Amino acid sequence: MITEEIGRTDSCAQNHSEFSAMVVGKILWEYEKAPCRIQSLYELAKEKMWNANSDVPWNDFGRDRSFPSSHESEPLTGFAEYEALPDDERRRISWWRHALEISEILHGEQGALLVASQLVSCLPTVESKLFASSQVFDEARHVEFFSRYLREVVGEIHPPSEELKRLIQSMVDEPRWDMKFIACQILIESLAMAKFQEIRQSTQVPVLAFAIDYIAADEARHVKFGTEFLKDHLASLSAPELAERSDFVLDNVLRLANSLNITTRIAESYDWDVAALRHHLRQYRVRHPEINRNRFRQLLINLKAVGLLTERTHMRMMSMEVMR
Ligand SMILES: [Fe+2]
Ligand SMILES: [Fe+2]
Repeated sequence: MITEEIGRTDSCAQNHSEFSAMVVGKILWEYEKAPCRIQSLYELAKEKMWNANSDVPWNDFGRDRSFPSSHESEPLTGFAEYEALPDDERRRISWWRHALEISEILHGEQGALLVASQLVSCLPTVESKLFASSQVFDEARHVEFFSRYLREVVGEIHPPSEELKRLIQSMVDEPRWDMKFIACQILIESLAMAKFQEIRQSTQVPVLAFAIDYIAADEARHVKFGTEFLKDHLASLSAPELAERSDFVLDNVLRLANSLNITTRIAESYDWDVAALRHHLRQYRVRHPEINRNRFRQLLINLKAVGLLTERTHMRMMSMEVMR
């Protein structure tokens, strides 16, 4: 089964999706403004640039020596059919899961790169255009790092899930700048930051731990930019317009949570009892309630910061299976 997945990887290099977006934006002819928070973030972005080739210790990894993540972070631990496998096979599964997860992150980074480049045109102020241009270069380094990491350390790149593909396509096709902005700076960035924290705590691959620190610092800046810039804009919208935006976020949270259902894919490949595995994973979540809490905490904080966390949105979010 793993070979089949790797086989699909080869054709991935030939694959692409197309979009043809009309970007609605402004050319601004005035440049002088009073100092603002976005300008400080832009200054910080220039100071914190790093090089994905020369600043990252590419020689410091050992794919054959160990599992990519700690034993405690493996949700399959304790599942009888998984435990019955020899050590080598469990290590293979662990690297496969890792390849699927990091591939999904890589494609998400490319989505962020494309949307950030559109935002340079769409955003309505000079400061925000300049910051967005620094974000384009940040996202380029993230794509560069993860694609090299997957090729050289992990050894395989998988195609994106259908759900992620749909989200990226809808982000680049979307004509409204604030919807692009919410999808990229609030939804994707918040979930990515939580995922990076998870990886940072559990990874056993030094080069990944090292680069994640750089990448997470970039993402934190992007989120700050998003929340700073959006809150004033969203305050000017009507209640139905706000509801449309928060529904958009929640619908996509659900979509993305399903797209990361990698363990089920592994179970199907090994012909395991999927119902028994689901039960095991539910028990795992009950024993580790902090996982989902941490996964969505940042998103809740950011939705609140921009005024999208109404009582209705909060109730809807709390009723989602992924939150429990
Ligand atoms: Fe990124
Ligand atoms: Fe980002």
